[in-house]
Amino acid sequence: MRGVELESPAKINWFLHIGSKRDDGYHELETVFQQIDLHDIIEIREAPSMSIVCSHPGVPADRENLAWRAWELMAERYGLPSVRITIHKNIPAAAGLAGGSSNAAAVLRGLTRMFEPEVDDADLAEIALTLGSDVPFFLHEGAAYGRGRGERLDPVDPPRDVPLLLLFPPEPVSTARAFSLLADMREPGKAAAFIGRDAAIALLRGPVSEMVGRTRNDLEPAAAEIAPSVARARAAAERLAGVTAVRMSGSGSTVWVAFDDREARSRAAKVLKREWTITEANIVRPA
Ligand code: C5P
Repeated sequence: MRGVELESPAKINWFLHIGSKRDDGYHELETVFQQIDLHDIIEIREAPSMSIVCSHPGVPADRENLAWRAWELMAERYGLPSVRITIHKNIPAAAGLAGGSSNAAAVLRGLTRMFEPEVDDADLAEIALTLGSDVPFFLHEGAAYGRGRGERLDPVDPPRDVPLLLLFPPEPVSTARAFSLLADMREPGKAAAFIGRDAAIALLRGPVSEMVGRTRNDLEPAAAEIAPSVARARAAAERLAGVTAVRMSGSGSTVWVAFDDREARSRAAKVLKREWTITEANIVRPA
């Protein structure tokens, strides 16, 4: 029986600008996605029937799981056999880290490697977008400037080594709810400004504090309304020494904190872990 094992990394957004709502219900956006070294492990084995195994209670083991739908789309199109997908979960759900999207992309990559169907990059990207706006990014490595729903991707150089801490507020945020609340909070007809790819690339070369000062996460006010602990997490991080930037990732509720150096991060971790669930994270660069 054939099988593969893959890493399925989380992402953060360095910034997230949300433009106007389109006729299809999605919002135009501008972001830089960044993979980090927090990852799930996905095992795929050929099996007599389709199943998902995951020890984590919050992860659905049926068609509700994007990983299952990733297999289904590939199986329908390319006549692939059933598999057992085992997900070793480390990335929290509904946290703005795109764990489910990353798992789905890992299944697309894994099935392609195992069964070598006649699929090119454009087909895979199209299937990925059917699964979700964040899925196409995980067909690549490192960092990418994203437009459209998040599928028009340009690989970019990540910033230099930035020590990060992730703070996980106890309340999850549903992406659909954050977008819909943002639409309610906005003045009609008023969409946020985009900075453009060249400006984003220039900002990634400079200090993270400057990038954060010149960009926004437009979903943060809506997410903080849904999950008040997002604002508390931000305030707790901002009080600490050696912190260069604090921002919510994606639609939340995870807040990332960037530090001057690893020592400052270690000191901050000792303080934060008394009250918050945290983890250290580092940027993934393309191999
Ligand atoms: O694409 P995905 O299924 O991850 O999106 C979840 C929800 O987030 C969508 O149903 C939509 O409400 C919202 N969304 C949006 N604009 C985007 C991405 C997501 O409005 N560009």
